[in-house]
Amino acid sequence: MKPLVRKVLSSSLVGALASPLSVDDYLSLIDRRLSLAEPRGRITSVVRQTADSVTLVIEPNDNWAGHRPGQHVLLGVDLNGARHSRCFSLVSAPQDPLLEITVKRNGDGRVSNFLVDQARRGQLVYLSPAEGDFYPQTSAPAKALLVSAGSGITPVMSLLREWIASGHLGDVVFLHYARRRCDMIYADELQVMAEQHPSLQVSTVFTAENGRRIDSQTMDIEVPDLAERETWLCGPLDFMDAAEALIAPRSEHALHREQFAATRREAAHGQGSVHFLNSDIAASGENGSLLEVAEGAGLTPPYGCRMGICHACKCRVAEGSVRDLRTNTVREVRDTDIQLCIHAAAGDVAVQL
Ligand SMILES: Cc1cc2nc3c(=O)[nH]c(=O)nc-3n(C[C@H](O)[C@H](O)[C@H](O)COP(=O)(O)OP(=O)(O)OC[C@H]3O[C@@H](n4cnc5c(N)ncnc54)[C@H](O)[C@@H]3O)c2cc1C
Ligand code: FES
Repeated sequence: MKPLVRKVLSSSLVGALASPLSVDDYLSLIDRRLSLAEPRGRITSVVRQTADSVTLVIEPNDNWAGHRPGQHVLLGVDLNGARHSRCFSLVSAPQDPLLEITVKRNGDGRVSNFLVDQARRGQLVYLSPAEGDFYPQTSAPAKALLVSAGSGITPVMSLLREWIASGHLGDVVFLHYARRRCDMIYADELQVMAEQHPSLQVSTVFTAENGRRIDSQTMDIEVPDLAERETWLCGPLDFMDAAEALIAPRSEHALHREQFAATRREAAHGQGSVHFLNSDIAASGENGSLLEVAEGAGLTPPYGCRMGICHACKCRVAEGSVRDLRTNTVREVRDTDIQLCIHAAAGDVAVQL
């Protein structure tokens, strides 16, 4: 959208003329990707690399402010009249004007199954600004170790693409675990990268074919100079815990983790009762986070990450006492927006839901 057109459309006069609808509502009639401020995108390519994944290339609108390697986006789709958003790592290098994500089917999960089975070219998706600090620095390390498993390859591929695109690929060992060769996402691209860049060593382990898990023997053979390498790690929680236990004591450099799911914690025990004001439902606050209490009461509040990083579950608490499940701190709140997934009731709570 031209800056002058955006300026005019953002004026209070145009806002008043559009009322009770918004300017975005009218823009959507022309093209649903158009918005004054919201990043949105259109899927331009759908590739099914493996039977249970889909790679989507997305053309963002001009509200997209770019991303850094290893960051993720909260991507929303409309399903049965409701918006559902989930976090996905951006695989594309920041230099690429198109965004790329790869989604792996997650059990009977709602959004991953929809995208794997039904994503199509031309489809509209809603985007958040890019977030995350998996790759905090600005320059590539001289020696890096990348370790991933399953769909955890996505943020790690983004680092590799960035280092290659910017001409700053150092000495990199990439250790990836997949169940079988046919399950491995980005297998072909990695093979080409390794052929073209002698300083990149790619090792893959197919756990269902040879039964090998991540272990100290593999580390000693594949990464004898582990102590000198900075590490980036992403995969299922058990895998990451096992990998970190092997790597951290052997390396003198930082280890960065990207989690796709919440760390298992003791079942959250709340106290008191929760009154969901808009639906006039009362429930015991004892059964987990406020998000879980709401779902247990038959409500379907939006969520994205279920671990406090995306803010999709933010909801207004009219009044009450809540406990932050990460820090265990209790606070009294009134007319305050809180993330339902990381708070439990610490007494009676009234939620605008
Ligand atoms: C930073 C980040 C980056 C990510 N990057 C990627 C990526 O690149 N590729 C990728 O494939 N995935 C990625 N994910 C995971 C992705 O965001 C989704 O979690 C995944 O796709 C599953 O979403 P879904 O809608 O299919 O499943 P959901 O329907 O959300 O279900 C998934 C799980 O949520 C829990 N759950 C759902 N409903 C309830 C309920 N009512 N009560 C209790 N528990 C419930 C269950 O444990 C269930 O198995 C990333 C996640 C994060 C946080
Ligand atoms: S669902 Fe992401 S912060 Fe709660």
